[in-house]
Order: sequence, then structure tokens, then C-alpha cells
Amino acid sequence: MKRRSALKWTLIGVGGSLGALTLGTVGVFGYAYARGKLDTVGKVDFDSPLAVPPLAESHTDASGARVFDLDLQAGQTQFLDGPATATWGVNGAFLGPTIRASRGEEIAFAIRNDLDQETSIHWHGMHLPAVMDGGPHQSVAPGDTWAPQWTVDQPAATLWYHPHPHGRTADHVHRGLAGMFIVDDEESGALDLPSEYGVDDLPMIVQDRKFDDDNQFDDSAPLLSSGGVFGDEIIVNGTRGPYVEVTTRLVRLRLLNGSNSRLYNFGFGDDRAFQLIATDGGLLAEPWETDRLHLSPGERAEIVVAFAPGETVELRSYPAEYGFNGTGARTNGADDRLDLVQFRAADTLAESPAIPTALAAAPDLDTAEAAETRTFTLEGRNINDRRMDMGRIDFAVREGTTEVWEVVNTNGYMHNFHVHDVQFHVLTVDGDAPPPDLSGWKDTILLVPDRRYRLAMRFTDHTDPNLPYMYHCHLLAHEDEGMMGQFVVLGEGETIGEVPQSAHAHD
Ligand code: C2O
Ligand code: CU
Ligand code: CU
Repeated sequence: MKRRSALKWTLIGVGGSLGALTLGTVGVFGYAYARGKLDTVGKVDFDSPLAVPPLAESHTDASGARVFDLDLQAGQTQFLDGPATATWGVNGAFLGPTIRASRGEEIAFAIRNDLDQETSIHWHGMHLPAVMDGGPHQSVAPGDTWAPQWTVDQPAATLWYHPHPHGRTADHVHRGLAGMFIVDDEESGALDLPSEYGVDDLPMIVQDRKFDDDNQFDDSAPLLSSGGVFGDEIIVNGTRGPYVEVTTRLVRLRLLNGSNSRLYNFGFGDDRAFQLIATDGGLLAEPWETDRLHLSPGERAEIVVAFAPGETVELRSYPAEYGFNGTGARTNGADDRLDLVQFRAADTLAESPAIPTALAAAPDLDTAEAAETRTFTLEGRNINDRRMDMGRIDFAVREGTTEVWEVVNTNGYMHNFHVHDVQFHVLTVDGDAPPPDLSGWKDTILLVPDRRYRLAMRFTDHTDPNLPYMYHCHLLAHEDEGMMGQFVVLGEGETIGEVPQSAHAHD
């Protein structure tokens, strides 16, 4: 999109707020509604090669652990002509390197906070001890270094990392702290899937941003939205107007919705079919062919797309097919149509092996003897009528057991639901078998209003009666406003302890 149209959008936004002073509620609503639909198809200049985050370097320490050094820093990024944008990044000015590790590996980090405020780094989707989780209880003060360490023990998957400081997550992610975390394992390595990083295996961190008149990020929520930023420009891996030179017939895209509030409904400009091969927690049992895929904030998916020599096609986000009810849809970006990335296929493409028809074991949790069934109702900014309290452990689960969690969003607008430490299996949606895109391992799920999701999850290892894991809505403004709770995993004979004061001294 040309700078001019972005500016116009900002000015309309200002007009909208001024209008609020003079127009009645109905007028304001009409105004917000009328300006609420964004269509950038055909308006984006795809003039920058898509940045591919570098793979993080590591060294092996005396104990044999592979250590990654991550430096959280402030910087400047040139997104637009004119002034640079103040941004945050990991080992750079915006976003961070892709971390890659294999199942069974012992990994460690030295995370240095060179920012002027405390933050944390959370490993979204990772099965690991609560003390290493990087949630709000593991905050790192400016100038300090945090050194988590664990053994990777879960199937190959596309995970990610991002800050999770109490009440400040939306701001810190929006400034640019986020990166991908790819887990490999032997089984996935043995499959003939596109896997040359940066060539036919591309990370795609999809984010929306709004720029103010000085080219700075504007994170204000639009009028009548359900909260949170809805940017009018898309950046992928930090690139505005990105294109990709395709050199192989098949390309695997690791899609991450790294936006604070926006739901994407991915699809191609010509509605071509693609294969969904993996969701949050890893490979599906078998590929699923589709031409649309919804991802709410925090969700990931791996898709494989076929290209023909010499062609050009765009990846887009189409209006949401669900997730919102009524007029709220418009003001929450659900009617938007966005051009995301342009793919330009070379005149000759290297052949790719056919996508395997069997990918991984399907989730097989035995819920016949589920130890517990819990219900979670998301409404407003509450989960079960409560808001996050850093000092309160909401409940405990027992290590070695499987539980069923029933989750429902009773608002007309979007929420989603993310659980730390585990990957879950969607048993049913309103009593029916889940659609194919919800048939594999998930750690974050879009909650379509009023649908009832039954999730099964098994808690293994890593007991800690005092330090909790989080569950929350991953619309970051909602999370920051308290739409989050805490649970501990107890070993045999243990009872709920107390969150150490030091861990929540910054309430
Ligand atoms: Cu991606 Cu608790 O977060
Ligand atoms: Cu998480
Ligand atoms: Cu929410």
C-alpha cells in the first residue's frame, strides 16, 4: 500500500474520534461501521523481498547443552520512507532469529534484557517446567540475564516465542519482540516434505500494523472494536509489501498469526487449493486439502502450496467465515480483505517429491477415564467470572492424568483460548467431531461465539506446586486486561502451594 493511503486511513481515524464529540451514538456507530471495512487487494506494492529470520546461532556448554544467546534490544526499523520506526527486537531491531532444536536435545538460553523495562520470553507451545516457561512469573529486569534450560520432548512442530510480562504483553509483542521456534524430530525428518529453510520451507510471521504521521507504530484500538489494535498494513517477517521468488514446485509455509487481535482467513488470490499438513503442536495424521484457513492470534499452521512455472499469485486474508456475530464483525476486522505476500514462480521450478499421504500419529488421548472435566466460560475480560490474579492459583491438575476442558465464548465477538505446557486434542465442537483443521494437536483455538469446544489434554512431567502455568485468551489486549488464569501441575501427594512473592512482586 502506498504511504498516502495509509496516511488517509490515519486521518479518517482522527476524524472518527472528533466525530465522537459531535455526533450521537448512532452517528458514531454508523461512522465507525462505514469506515471499518478494509480492502487492500491490488493496492499493495510488493516491492520488498520477504525477509527470512536467520536461524539462531548456538554453542555447546560444558554440560553438553546447546546454548542460544538472545539479546532483547531497542532499535530502529525503516518500514516507510522518512523517519524510521522505533522498534524492539531480539538480536536485532525487529523480531528475532528462528530457534531450531530437535526432540531429545538439551537446550539453554542466556536472555539478556537490554530494554528499559522488565519483560519475559515465553516459549509458546512448548512442554517444559513452569519455572522455564517465561510467563509473568519469570520476568527479567532491565540489565539482567535469564537462563532457562530444558530438554525438548515433543513432536516436531512450529512454535514461537514472545514476551509475557504481566499486563504488558500486547505492547511488547507489538513493538516487535517475537520469533519462531521450530522443533524437529526423527519421524518428521524422514518424511519427504519441503524442508530447506528459507528456500522451500518458509517461516511467515504475519502481523498487522498502523503507522502514525511520524511513521511510529500506533497501537490504539479502533472505535467500537472489542479491544486491541487492527492495523491497516500487513508486515510478514517484518517486511512491508513482501514478495517471494519461488524456485521449487512445492513450498511449505509455516504460518504464524503474530498479530495482537486480528483473525486471518488465509487463501490465495486464485482460490487454489493447498494442503494443511500441521497445526500448532505438529503434523496432522494426513494432509487436508483446503482453500481457506483461519488462524486466530497465536495459532500456527504449516501448509504446502504448489506453483506453476512463471506464475504470480498472492496469499491473502479473506473476510472471516466465522468468529464474530453481527455488526461487531465489521469493527473487528472480520470483513477485511488483505493482500499479504506475492509469490513469483521462476520459469523453471525444481521438482518436489509428492506430499506423503501419512504424516504422523493422530492424537489418541484416552478420555474414558478423564480425571477431571472442567468448564471455562469466556465473557468480557473474565474466565469463569474471574480475572487474572498473579497471587492466585485457580486450580491444580495431577501429573500423569488426562483432563477434559470444555470451553465456550459467550460474547458475540472473538476470543480464543491458549493453554501453556500442553498440546490438546479437540474432541468435539458442539458435540460433533472437529473439522480437519482442528483434528491435530493444538495449543490455541479460536472460540467461535457460543460454540462449545471439548478439549482433551494430558499433563506429564514437570510438577511444581508453587509456580503456575497460564491459560488465557490470546487476543493480547484481553490477556493484559486479565482474561487469564493459572494452574499448577501436582505430583503425587502434593497440594497447591503458594506463588513465591518474588515471582509476583511486580503486580
Ligand atoms: Cu503465546 Cu501465554 O502465550
Ligand atoms: Cu503460551
Ligand atoms: Cu478475548
